[in-house]
Amino acid sequence: MTTDIVAIPGDGIGGEVLPAAIKILEAVDVDFEFTEAEAGDHVAAEGRDPLPQATRDLAADADAVLFGAAGETAADVILPLRAAVGSFVNVRPARTYPGVDAVKPETDLVFLRENTEGVYAGHEDRLSENLSTLTRVVTDEASEQLAEYACEYVSERDMDSFTIAHKANVMRETDGRFRDAVARVAAEKGVETDEVLMDALAMHLILRPEEYDVIVTPNLAGDVLSDLAAGLVGGLGLLPSANIGPKRALFEPVHGSAPDIAGTGIANPSAMVLSAAMLLDYVDEPVAAENVRTAVEKTLKSGPRTPDLGGDGSTESVTTAILEGL
Ligand code: NAI
Ligand code: MG
Repeated sequence: MTTDIVAIPGDGIGGEVLPAAIKILEAVDVDFEFTEAEAGDHVAAEGRDPLPQATRDLAADADAVLFGAAGETAADVILPLRAAVGSFVNVRPARTYPGVDAVKPETDLVFLRENTEGVYAGHEDRLSENLSTLTRVVTDEASEQLAEYACEYVSERDMDSFTIAHKANVMRETDGRFRDAVARVAAEKGVETDEVLMDALAMHLILRPEEYDVIVTPNLAGDVLSDLAAGLVGGLGLLPSANIGPKRALFEPVHGSAPDIAGTGIANPSAMVLSAAMLLDYVDEPVAAENVRTAVEKTLKSGPRTPDLGGDGSTESVTTAILEGL
């Protein structure tokens, strides 16, 4: 059976790393059909919607979506795309690799980030010339759906607990609801939880990341803390992510369009290729997924490496090495 993938390169290095991921997916023994679709700053620059309806429709119809990165229009592109595939959780693993300098080599954790609401629900208003407000949305439904996913996630990996990050001591109503809903579902499913205030977690992660495995977070906290974790493991060039919904999913690196290096051919393709490995897991090809991860690991260990990891390799030479590793 053919798996239909919609590939959206976007802007900047998105257009440089996405072709690398497609090369890798074409090299594994799985039947994919790719359709390329447009989105991002370069589309907006033509006076069009940065996320054209045609792209939205393709994404809503595909088995899975691969996304590179958008630039200034990121919020107009990636938030509706994550919604178009119906994703409710953003899975962001952060781990270190042999051969890569890391601030905290013992880091090996995953964020399960709520992906539909919180402060990213899109309710911002300008009430007057000097006053703006933001409405934070937290529902039992979204929090419970995230918690159910978290319970399955840990059970499938023979773990028995996860950590809930929140700030319910201040945001008593919204984060209180989030924490209570997640803890309630976990208790029903027999999964243990511990809780940590998200600001304290930022410090704990820097001092003792090895104490954490699976961290369930509200939307914004997951965004911020996963970039912090990227800093612990060697940079954004290494962090993949998956946006999972009941019927389809979207895979993207955590990084953006990196305008500072775009066009120079030195973007690290690892985050994008590791996102493609998460896609392989999602379409139930765990052997192919593991082979891709192993090939990335081998390349990170032996080189070539891109300049963000201290090397002098290029997107192309790293991609070629990963392909050879496969
Ligand atoms: P960024 O992730 O694009 O870059 C941050 C830093 O990390 C830069 O120094 C960049 O060179 C480096 N970096 C990122 N990915 C890399 C890779 N694969 N290889 C080597 N170095 C890499 O974040 P920044 O600079 O905050 O945002 C740049 C643009 O990207 C903005 O317009 C922003 O709106 C957009 N953005 C888009 C996202 C998305 O499409 N999902 C996510 C984050 C930012
Ligand atoms: Mg981010």
